[in-house]
Amino acid sequence: MARSHYETIVIGLGAAGVTAATTLAKAGRVVLGIEAQGRVGGRVNTVLFGNGVVEVGAEWIHGESSNRVYDVALQIKIPMGLQSAELNVFRSDGQLPNKEFQAIVNEILAKGMDLMEDVPHKSEPFGHYAVRKLREYIQENHPELLNDEDLIDQLIELFELFSNNHSASNNWNDLDSRDRYTPVDGHQYISWHKHGFKTFFEVMLNTYNNGPGLPTLDIKLDTEVIQIYWPEHPNEKVTVTTKDGSVVTADNVIITVSLGVLKESYKTLFSPRLPASKVTAIENMSIGVMDKIIISFQHSWWPKNVTFFGFLWRGEDRRKIGREDYWITRIYGATTPMGSNNALTLWTSGEVAKMVELLPEDLVKRKCVQLLQMFMGGNITIPEPTGIIRSTWYSNPYTRGSYSYDSIYSATLTGLRADLAAPLTDNSGKPRVLFAGEATDDTHFSTVHGACDTGHREAMRLLPGSKI
Ligand SMILES: Cc1cc2nc3c(=O)[nH]c(=O)nc-3n(C[C@H](O)[C@H](O)[C@H](O)COP(=O)(O)OP(=O)(O)OC[C@H]3O[C@@H](n4cnc5c(N)ncnc54)[C@H](O)[C@@H]3O)c2cc1C
Ligand SMILES: *[C@@H]1O[C@H](CO)[C@@H](O)[C@H](O)[C@H]1NC(C)=O
Ligand SMILES: *[C@@H]1O[C@H](CO)[C@@H](O)[C@H](O)[C@H]1NC(C)=O
Ligand SMILES: *[C@@H]1O[C@H](CO)[C@@H](O)[C@H](O)[C@H]1NC(C)=O
Ligand SMILES: *[C@@H]1O[C@H](CO)[C@@H](O)[C@H](O)[C@H]1NC(C)=O
Repeated sequence: MARSHYETIVIGLGAAGVTAATTLAKAGRVVLGIEAQGRVGGRVNTVLFGNGVVEVGAEWIHGESSNRVYDVALQIKIPMGLQSAELNVFRSDGQLPNKEFQAIVNEILAKGMDLMEDVPHKSEPFGHYAVRKLREYIQENHPELLNDEDLIDQLIELFELFSNNHSASNNWNDLDSRDRYTPVDGHQYISWHKHGFKTFFEVMLNTYNNGPGLPTLDIKLDTEVIQIYWPEHPNEKVTVTTKDGSVVTADNVIITVSLGVLKESYKTLFSPRLPASKVTAIENMSIGVMDKIIISFQHSWWPKNVTFFGFLWRGEDRRKIGREDYWITRIYGATTPMGSNNALTLWTSGEVAKMVELLPEDLVKRKCVQLLQMFMGGNITIPEPTGIIRSTWYSNPYTRGSYSYDSIYSATLTGLRADLAAPLTDNSGKPRVLFAGEATDDTHFSTVHGACDTGHREAMRLLPGSKI
């Protein structure tokens, strides 16, 4: 039965929280996990849709080496789906580009991706850096393209949307050209397909295949934490108050809520208030929005052998789109979820994503069909969708954004992520409130494996004799 005191309380049961809680529980610690929503997983959310499952949040395991998520998938020996990110390009006039053109677009995108990993000498808005470098690259490798300014604009725009998707940014000039995101080696698009990303959490919690769970881990769902009291005196307990009015105590707490939630609630969530370094980190770090629109059809009507579709807007076609429909010109492309073969996912980010979260569902569905008709319809009529799901990672009060990015506005402030990660200690120096979550990882932020690493990092801080 529920206790009133725990060794550790973990707040939030997404990837970071579940990793922290299970690492401690497996070491015999008595742990309570408190989660505001009615499910475990946070920004991972597998749902039944179409003729299988789709991922409303994280979809792929990005990379294989030193990746805790990949390790779990290997451990249970599920066949993993390796999805090719090669873009199949469609154009706004409905003309199908030839193979050479497809290859050039992919080559230029690949060059763009190299630029994202580059660490240039000086910080500047990423868009400025990317446009300059891409033009140089095209000049050297495909000078013939330079005769067609509209085409250059189309290619640059496609890459802009790609970078906004990756950083959840609204404008690629908000990104720092020296951002610290670092991919881990290995295939970048590994899918849980019909098993769903949720399987990862079942394995971690030992509930996979009807496993019994972990004996020293209690879980409370649908329970929002509204205040954490952290003591200065070493003999006092940490006190956690939840919205239903209950109070639970612990020796220490690991908080894993998103940067968006911290921004919104840090002034009231912590008592006493947070120290200045923490406030500076929370205020000056950035979290953006990336959302999916997932649409199902009676049958798939798209080409079978490709899974990533990119849209290139000719200037004249874009100019025909009314202002109220501007958002459909900012959809980066479509992908096919591997867990359901009659669904398509459309990708959107930034302010447009925030707006799409609030538009009437029927309108979104109708406009998306128009978009698909225009680009991919060619010689067929796109059938009426059978269902639609939109993600709402910004409206959701328990996420308030999709993932963090390194912004150009904080480029001069160093160590913000480390400041966010630093524990609050009592006056004997013991950590009492510890911080984990995607945004606290210096180089693997915005991923599930990065979030897991931070949960593990904070659990190890509490396990004596263990290395961090
Ligand atoms: C659309 C989308 C696509 C993505 N695609 C990928 C991908 O393909 N691959 C990849 O690696 N990563 C991807 N990511 C990023 C990845 O999902 C996140 O980086 C990761 O899941 C974050 O985990 P976390 O534990 O840090 O935070 P969260 O998952 O947000 O966990 C925090 C938890 O805290 C809970 N909470 C909040 N407030 C309270 C409160 N007051 N009291 C109690 N609980 C609270 C929340 O409900 C949540 O469950 C994607 C993200 C999004 C949004
Ligand atoms: C969009 O960006 C996120 C975060 O980097 C990534 O997980 C996802 O694979 C990207 N989507 C596409 C279609 O590339
Ligand atoms: C960073 O955050 C603090 C709040 O702690 C604010 O006063 C300051 O102006 C911010 N700095 C920058 C460079 O935005
Ligand atoms: C996919 O298959 C079609 C014919 O079925 C072919 O024309 C096209 O080139 C293929 N595309 C890729 C990327 O292999
Ligand atoms: C439609 O058909 C025409 C003529 O058969 C062809 O040239 C064109 O590429 C097709 N369009 C698409 C998008 O398949």
